[in-house]
Amino acid sequence: FSDFLTDAFNRQHDYLRISITERCNLRCLYCMPEEGVPLSPQSHLLTTPEIYYLSSLFVNQGVTKIRLTGGEPTVRRDILPLMQKIGSLRPRGLRELAITTNGISLHRKLDAMVDAGLTGVNLSLDTLDPFQFQIMTRRKGFDAVMRSVDRILEMKSLGADLKLKINCVVMRGLNERDILPFVELGREKDIEVRFIEYMPFDGNKWSKGKMISYKEMLDLIRAKYPGLKQVQGHNNDTSKTWEVPGFLGKIGFITSMTHNFCGTCNRLRITSDGNLKVCLFGNAEVSLRDLLRQDNNGKPIDEEAFEAIKKMEMDRRQGLLGDGTALGWGQRERELLDVIG
Ligand code: GTP
Ligand code: 5AD
Ligand code: SF4
Repeated sequence: FSDFLTDAFNRQHDYLRISITERCNLRCLYCMPEEGVPLSPQSHLLTTPEIYYLSSLFVNQGVTKIRLTGGEPTVRRDILPLMQKIGSLRPRGLRELAITTNGISLHRKLDAMVDAGLTGVNLSLDTLDPFQFQIMTRRKGFDAVMRSVDRILEMKSLGADLKLKINCVVMRGLNERDILPFVELGREKDIEVRFIEYMPFDGNKWSKGKMISYKEMLDLIRAKYPGLKQVQGHNNDTSKTWEVPGFLGKIGFITSMTHNFCGTCNRLRITSDGNLKVCLFGNAEVSLRDLLRQDNNGKPIDEEAFEAIKKMEMDRRQGLLGDGTALGWGQRERELLDVIG
């Protein structure tokens, strides 16, 4: 394992998340304002050859998992050729190729993506009620998302090696009524539904009252499913995994607000404009794009990039402060979109 990918906290970063666009075709209340987010000029964004080049470089250094994110990654027009290129790295050590998507147009491209080597879909879906969907995303599209879910399950039943997780951000007064129906979904379907604590984010009008904590969700679910039990997850999971005995699916909780998981975080991030970040909440960044585009005095970009990773400091800025107030995310942290969108 390459020592370059081990940071000052001895975390081995073998999981790379690449944001391939800032744009999105939804406007989820907790994420984007109605008017969208300011977009970078096209020339600032990484091109497909650049993304491929960086992917291969990181895979050579020991990255085994790549996740494409956005914004909404499927709105990037050349996502398929891009995925095919990245998928071609599988024989060189890439074991997982995943996408985080809202599912609106996934069903149209899914088969080709699986052919290209896609192994996992994390689908953002906060409600099973079409009307509530429209309220939370400020757009129509529930049926299209369900079509994607159905197609994924169909492909799994046909033997595709494809993992499906649903990401559900829980907000009090909006979708807490969906928690139990989402759990119920796992009775007969092999889906992991992950409930996410609502996080503050510049301008998303977060308040502690609107957040539903891990503990509260767990109590609610346990009241209906007393057999609920925790299962061992994988070391670097963002989520804590539970199951209802007898159910095909699992449930998980992403507890960014009440129990952070920085200590085991193994993620590297490349924003759509080519900045490398070790931590979602830290500002330490290095522009891989500039390194790629400048004449590097003969020094290979990987050496420089990986030296920069070493210098990056983990910055524990997430979660609640002692007095119960939240640390807001500033302008730069809007790049959460780049990282988790
Ligand atoms: P897998 O572990 O591969 O399933 O993916 P993931 O959970 O890392 O990725 P996904 O894109 O599905 O993100 C799900 C949620 O994880 C996001 O909504 C974030 O809340 C959270 N998340 C991902 N990375 C980080 C991180 O570095 N810090 C924090 N606090 N939350 C993160
Ligand atoms: N709090 C919690 N999760 C969020 N996501 C986007 N914004 C927030 C927020 N403010 C989630 C999306 C998506 C995942 C990548 O990040 O729902 O599933
Ligand atoms: Fe788009 Fe995802 Fe943000 Fe919703 S959460 S607006 S789907 S980027």
